[in-house]
Amino acid sequence: MFKVLQKTSLNLGQSEKKEKILVQGNKPLKGVIRTSGAKNAVLKQMAACLLIPAKVILKDVPPLQDVFRMIQIVEFLGGKCEFDLEKEVLQIDCSNLNGSYAPFELVSKLRASFVILGPLLTRMKSAKVSLPGGCQIGTRRIDLHEKGLRDLGAKISISHGYVEAECQPNGLTGCEMRLDIPSNGATENLMMAAVLAQGLTIIDNAAKDPEIEDLANFLNSCGAKIKGGGTDRIEIEGVKLDELHGTEYITLPDRIEAGTFLIAALATDGDVLIQNIVPEHLQSLLEKLEEIGGKIDCKENTIHICRAKPLRATEISTVWYPGFPTDLQAQLMALLTKAEGTSIIKENIYEDRFSHVQELVHMGADIQVNHNVAVMKGVEKLTGTQVLGGDLRATAGLVIAGLMAGGKTEVRGLNHLDRGYSHFTDKLIALGAVIERVSDSS
Ligand code: EPU
Repeated sequence: MFKVLQKTSLNLGQSEKKEKILVQGNKPLKGVIRTSGAKNAVLKQMAACLLIPAKVILKDVPPLQDVFRMIQIVEFLGGKCEFDLEKEVLQIDCSNLNGSYAPFELVSKLRASFVILGPLLTRMKSAKVSLPGGCQIGTRRIDLHEKGLRDLGAKISISHGYVEAECQPNGLTGCEMRLDIPSNGATENLMMAAVLAQGLTIIDNAAKDPEIEDLANFLNSCGAKIKGGGTDRIEIEGVKLDELHGTEYITLPDRIEAGTFLIAALATDGDVLIQNIVPEHLQSLLEKLEEIGGKIDCKENTIHICRAKPLRATEISTVWYPGFPTDLQAQLMALLTKAEGTSIIKENIYEDRFSHVQELVHMGADIQVNHNVAVMKGVEKLTGTQVLGGDLRATAGLVIAGLMAGGKTEVRGLNHLDRGYSHFTDKLIALGAVIERVSDSS
């Protein structure tokens, strides 16, 4: 078991203890908060450590359930992990790996863990990794991961729920490939696999998200040769294992966490300053928030938000970065429940990411869904009731709805919330929210 230097209520297993959030609504959020390190960056950097035969120090690592689960996977494979929860520093040493088999029991708990396939295969020459299993928000295919690894020379077979991959004794061979869609996971898996491939790999139509750029920067700080991370064309010049070395690296700030708090601030007619954020990473959200009625002021690493005018309806369509992120769709929908006029939200990334709609309707929202389009008419008020979050971002969206509602809202589904937000209720309390996390005995 990995060494945890301090305990938090979020250590692995404890979030399975049933809890719920109680929110007393209609209180404006006011004050300053600091964004944590990005979940969707740090999980991939942890997977990338499987490539590095030395000690790596990752800083600003949030104590999330998904991080604890990824630690379990890295340790299962032979990596040594030490997590200082107070300093949010995670040390990983994969000098010696003892295998390249990742079983269903571990992989199925965390979809993001599928990105271990690329690094394991390229370092160990073979890997057997469980398919990532079902997901509440859509099918989440892996065909592009599979095709790209084949292009790099791997033999891949899928049977009994496992992907088995193997390469020649001298490893994978660089090549030029084009992704049909700019999948984050496929870009990351293939970029990591190419780090130890022979020669040059070019990934066209790659995902351009800041987390991909951060992964490339992290790997380069360990001796990899990657150009173009964060653009749609990534070039990776393969290196030898002994050219990779340890590093100390600060993970980039979590744009989705920051976006969630910006939306909550506007939704409660608040006045909030978010520190430790790259404003450019949230451009599509900031433009929408201004259109809806927010007044935004960005400095180099901060964003200030308050309300300039009454909330107005808008249209959003989720797309690949730098477009509007699917991971902020549920939170924005909560905000728009009370915006004057008719809003339209189109979800293009996942086929089933509207689990929050029914719950918002229970709170008094007026929303009709047709396939992947939600049409919402702004209502005067929401009323608190009992709601259940169906996925990570849906649960955050329901907490925002609770902050906007009259009376008390009980939000369940914290097992999802704890996967992706650290100290969520504490941060809201610091902003003046009347919110508490209590045991759920019902
Ligand atoms: N897709 C395919 N084939 C593939 C891979 C993906 O068709 O081979 C499809 C999926 O089925 C899905 C879409 O492409 O409909 C998006 O998949 P992508 O690979 O881009 O997403 P991911 O890497 O699995 C990451 C984030 C998600 C975020 C998406 C999109 C992590 C751990 N997860 O997932 O974050 O929604 O990118 O930006 O990085 C969250 O944080 O709440 C979350 C779900």
